[in-house]
Amino acid sequence: MNYDNIILKTESSRCLLCSDAPCTKACKNGIPVDKIIRSVNFDNVNGARFMLDNKSCSDCINGDCTSVCSRGSFDSPVDVEKIVSLLSNFDYVKPKEVDLSVDLCGVKCENPFFLSSSVVGSNYEMVAKAFDMGWAGVAFITIGMFVPNEVSPRFGQLEKEDTSFIGFKNIEQISTHTLEENLNFFRELKKNYPQKVIIASIMGRNQEEWTKLVSLCEEYGSDIIECNFSCPQMVGEGLGSDVGINPELVAEYVRAVKNGTKLPVLAKMTPNITSMLPPAIASVEAGADGLAAINTIKSIMNVDLNSFASAPDVKGYSAVGGYSGKAVKPIALRFINEMASCEKLENIPISGMGGIETWRDAAEFISLGCSTVQVTTSVMQYGYRIIEDLTDGLKRYMSDMGFNSVYDFIGKANKKIKPADDLDRNYICFPEFDREKCVGCGRCFVSCYDGGHQAIKINDDRKPILYAKKCVGSHLCKIICPVGAISAGKKINKSNLI
Ligand SMILES: Cc1cc2nc3c(=O)[nH]c(=O)nc-3n(C[C@H](O)[C@H](O)[C@H](O)COP(=O)(O)O)c2cc1C
Repeated sequence: MNYDNIILKTESSRCLLCSDAPCTKACKNGIPVDKIIRSVNFDNVNGARFMLDNKSCSDCINGDCTSVCSRGSFDSPVDVEKIVSLLSNFDYVKPKEVDLSVDLCGVKCENPFFLSSSVVGSNYEMVAKAFDMGWAGVAFITIGMFVPNEVSPRFGQLEKEDTSFIGFKNIEQISTHTLEENLNFFRELKKNYPQKVIIASIMGRNQEEWTKLVSLCEEYGSDIIECNFSCPQMVGEGLGSDVGINPELVAEYVRAVKNGTKLPVLAKMTPNITSMLPPAIASVEAGADGLAAINTIKSIMNVDLNSFASAPDVKGYSAVGGYSGKAVKPIALRFINEMASCEKLENIPISGMGGIETWRDAAEFISLGCSTVQVTTSVMQYGYRIIEDLTDGLKRYMSDMGFNSVYDFIGKANKKIKPADDLDRNYICFPEFDREKCVGCGRCFVSCYDGGHQAIKINDDRKPILYAKKCVGSHLCKIICPVGAISAGKKINKSNLI
């Protein structure tokens, strides 16, 4: 029975992730309190333990960090002492040296982590800051030969409990800088950061514009081109995802781009389509060197039940916009797997994105076939600083798994996805209850009764008993248990059950 992990995560999740955190400044023992708590929140508990080193709160009597905790202004402060003491129970593990560098279409990247094309990489200062903090490269915000007229406000969010958003809607289009300004950003960035990778994301309105844009991007120092065939909220027809759902148009524009450059070209795909294969194959057959996916998913959110306007509310109206962030990750992974498993796309590099927040998210994309990954929404939410736990967490995972290079696990998960017909349907895997660990909340009973097969009964001691005859082994109870007291138990062949 050990609830330490749950308490550690719950208490850490109360942290507001302050900028220039007062707690760390106040700590007389030199504990990087904010970084440690952030690492726990970003699924890097071992990294947090490592950072703690041999420091502790034992000789601190004033609790200086808690007295300045921003959360304490409206609630109780984060219990730093508790977090530090729980962390010190974890093993102190130094990861082995591993190689995070990858190759994207012949361009060397120091690690797989890129900012994805959007506002997070939209001028010189922003990208320079991200590079200084450790991002390997940027897919700069899409540039074009026109400057869009954007609305205000332009974002909406799907909330869950304490998290400000788990899903995010935007109705932005492309860069609002002039073409000249954007090209000068590229030139300065390449001059000052020659080892970092600049992907120029472009959008033309016709063949001539695609060709002209790409040759200018090459001239001004970009390393790779990304064709935006996927923005779902462009004003005007025949742009963004209107192109991405039309394989003939995709091929035509890829050819126009290849005519204007010798640089590698990625085609960025839209998820607003049943299968990504027709446009992906069309782009590769037309000469694209790699694929990027996913762009945002068409969405409507947060209908105000007084005014009936949805979010973002632009003078009482909204428009269908692009959905991104943590909530879209499973959809993104499904498209990545589809492309990575397609014979016609064999050996075509994929730059994956859609909901990446932690090293674990990134590792899932890599295991499903991506050699690089890109991030926007979680940078908007938490800042460029997430790169620290992305790289440290990935290194630790690779070290634990005995992988020396990212290439050791690219695509390892594709083989584990089969057509539904091919799954073994002969057995039931029953849940196993840890009655010591169970706290008697009865959530398993509620979910099994109302959303399952009425296979759980609650005993007088409030602990569950399985009624095996009714159990189908769905594992809803295991997923729902708040303390991890239910695990996968025996697998019994269905023919032995009657
Ligand atoms: C505010 C915002 C602006 C974006 N602008 C662009 C863009 O200019 N070009 C583009 O190809 N994708 C754009 N995207 C899509 C992202 O690059 C990315 O494909 C998508 O958001 C999924 O990744 P995420 O969940 O990490 O945000 C934008 C996304 C957001 C949220």
